[in-house]
Amino acid sequence: MAISEETKFLHEIEFGLGAWAWGDRVFWSYGKTHTDEDIKQAFDTSIEAGIIFLDTAEVYGQGRSESLIGEFLKTTKVPVMVATKFMPFPWRMRKSSLVNALKHSLDRLGLPLVDLYQIHWPFPPFPVEHWVEALAEAKQKGLTRTVGVSNYNKNQMQRAYTVLAKYDIPLASNQVEYSLLDRRIEKNGVLQRANELGIRIISYSPLAKGILTGKYSSENPPPGVRGRQYSSILREVQPLLKLMTEIGQDLGGKTQAQIALNWLMCKGTMPIPGAKNARQAEMNSGSLGWRLTEDQVKSLDAASEKFIK
Ligand SMILES: NC(=O)c1ccc[n+]([C@@H]2O[C@H](COP(=O)([O-])OP(=O)(O)OC[C@H]3O[C@@H](n4cnc5c(N)ncnc54)[C@H](OP(=O)(O)O)[C@@H]3O)[C@@H](O)[C@H]2O)c1
Repeated sequence: MAISEETKFLHEIEFGLGAWAWGDRVFWSYGKTHTDEDIKQAFDTSIEAGIIFLDTAEVYGQGRSESLIGEFLKTTKVPVMVATKFMPFPWRMRKSSLVNALKHSLDRLGLPLVDLYQIHWPFPPFPVEHWVEALAEAKQKGLTRTVGVSNYNKNQMQRAYTVLAKYDIPLASNQVEYSLLDRRIEKNGVLQRANELGIRIISYSPLAKGILTGKYSSENPPPGVRGRQYSSILREVQPLLKLMTEIGQDLGGKTQAQIALNWLMCKGTMPIPGAKNARQAEMNSGSLGWRLTEDQVKSLDAASEKFIK
């Protein structure tokens, strides 16, 4: 694996914090299940636990997530790293939209540059090359320390890597869905190719949006869209959750969430779980500082085999 000097820091970060739920009312019920005060406590608790990598996006809460982070950053002296994302909406045509969007993100965050700027989705109508060229420009203007992509398949990731190589810019990361309930990247070649090219895999929805914490079941599904998304899985996931409980007990009382997150680190990726409050942030940070054994990873692999999709 050839990791460039410039992106090495990302490979050294084991774990991050996802901020989609910070300001998002539609999917995450911001304002009902968690307030700004809860979110601030999640931030403080994470920083205290040594988690200094935050993932957000211009679309999270229509900018609210970035604005909250901007406020929180003013309250700490700890150097926090921030990753955000550009959404290639179909009405955005010109390459300059990307740099303009990044400048708006930087205003909300109160930062001169971010540590990682990512293209959120490889949406049509433009080919990968269109927005990746714009990403190279953002890097050249010094508005971001590194550049990455998100939700890119193997072919799209390779093309992004090749475009950036023309500018001597490394592709730092590909942020993709990866958890014990979604193991597609192991099958479709993304994980292997990213490792070969030195691209950091950032695992999103690492708790399968809360399902892998064990608090939801068919009788007690998560609210709203999530309940529908996971209705069939909630029935099938119980044997896996039971195994996670047993492994957690063998490890002296680790929770299912901690097992799920540790498994992703054992796979060489960086999980970025969302946390709505201090309690969730504290539990998630408890997945740091230890490792599942090889046998435990193998048994989790076997129990989650049917979710490879
Ligand atoms: N690039 C992309 O396209 C993309 C897509 C999705 C997410 N992401 C990124 O990935 C981050 C994480 O993914 P995610 O937010 O979708 O899902 P997730 O991290 O799998 O789940 C987060 C949710 O699980 C529940 N939870 C978290 N920790 C818990 C704990 N210890 N105990 C009990 N419940 C807990 C909370 O919701 P409840 O309390 O309501 O259950 C929380 O909002 C996002 O914040 C975002 O930064 C990126």
